[in-house]
Amino acid sequence: MSTNELTYGMVGGDVKAFIGDVHRKAIGFDPRCHLVAGAFSIDPVLHVLTADTYHIAKDRRYNDYKEMAEAESKRKDKIDFVVIVTPNASHYQISKEFLLHDINVICEKPLCFTLEEANELSKIAKDRNLLFAVNYGYTGYTMVKIAKEMIAKKELGKLLSVQIQYAQDWLIDTTDSTKSAEMGKKIWRLDPKASGISCSLGDIGTHAENLFRYLTGDEIKRLVVSTDKYGQALDLNSNVIIQCQDGLHVGIWVSQVAIGCENGLKFQIYGTKGSLNWNQQDPDTLYYGLLHEPQMKLVRGSNYLKKYEASSNSRLPSGHPEGLYEAFANNYRHIISYLIKKKGKEEPTLEDCDFPTIADGLDGVKFVHKAIQSATEEKWLEY
Ligand SMILES: NC(=O)c1ccc[n+]([C@@H]2O[C@H](COP(=O)([O-])OP(=O)(O)OC[C@H]3O[C@@H](n4cnc5c(N)ncnc54)[C@H](O)[C@@H]3O)[C@@H](O)[C@H]2O)c1
Repeated sequence: MSTNELTYGMVGGDVKAFIGDVHRKAIGFDPRCHLVAGAFSIDPVLHVLTADTYHIAKDRRYNDYKEMAEAESKRKDKIDFVVIVTPNASHYQISKEFLLHDINVICEKPLCFTLEEANELSKIAKDRNLLFAVNYGYTGYTMVKIAKEMIAKKELGKLLSVQIQYAQDWLIDTTDSTKSAEMGKKIWRLDPKASGISCSLGDIGTHAENLFRYLTGDEIKRLVVSTDKYGQALDLNSNVIIQCQDGLHVGIWVSQVAIGCENGLKFQIYGTKGSLNWNQQDPDTLYYGLLHEPQMKLVRGSNYLKKYEASSNSRLPSGHPEGLYEAFANNYRHIISYLIKKKGKEEPTLEDCDFPTIADGLDGVKFVHKAIQSATEEKWLEY
């Protein structure tokens, strides 16, 4: 293994799971990192099938994450980082185990269940000088990064209003009384033991919250939230109003029962000079409005975007679509560069540091708690 290459392991993400495979493919975009170890599933058959599929050596297929952290930490060629892609309830324990064995962590969101847990993980990572990234993957899209740069360069003027929606429809059957009990048993996101205090706000609302902070750099001063549960234990549809430290209001609508919406993460940002509109389902396009001018369609990979530093994240020429894999891959490109430089005792560049960290994970946990508390108490809460 050259000094410009890394190895990683994975917990969760068997061949039938959803997001683990997106991580593996995204990491594979830039050939600097190899999957060499894993505890891929609680189902032993799926664990072995996944290990076979990825040609994992017999001595690096682990029965569980504890055995994996312990054994890897003792190897001369131990993994450089672990990717944790299990359901929410296990993130805290698994992350902590790897940190305590001095292994860098990339964990799925939401980071964990409580602020105490989030602060504890953050402290361990800091004390041991370990990287801890949390996968808010949508900030990896090139056009999201360009939007952030345009806002920072004041191309929209002073921001007046921000609207973000994240709407899906795959939990619509929870609203049907003949199917809802069965859904509640079958889907871990609806079970408080696996999902925590929230379903939709934790599952997708944290992406909206992370996206608004990434784009604007603003901090939340106070918020008020209403949620609908439709007879389930946890929230399925929520409206959030945020007031930022500088007075800006942000509206967030989160729903998993919005018929016709697949993975509808969208933002609309309005300022005194211009506006930006973006839709995750058409991620290469950013609509830019200026007063008294027709709305412009900015397309990733176009020469006219080269003036933005963030355009360096683009991999294909305009008209050749990029998607979720590339968005995750952009975050991983920075994470991997950061780790290679850290290993070589080199200073990472600002661009290498452009990935979501445990600080974002901690903010996400706080957001879910404040939002659920506001909805329960039916009032504005200071942040
Ligand atoms: N960032 C994103 O865009 C995004 C998208 C989807 C899911 N997620 C997050 O990713 C996580 C996983 O979601 P998913 O949809 O892939 O779930 P999933 O149910 O499809 O997969 C979960 C996997 O974890 C395994 N697993 C469970 N407990 C384990 C343990 N103790 N040890 C080893 N393996 C274990 C399961 O066997 C399965 O392989 C969740 O926290 C979810 O919030 C993030």
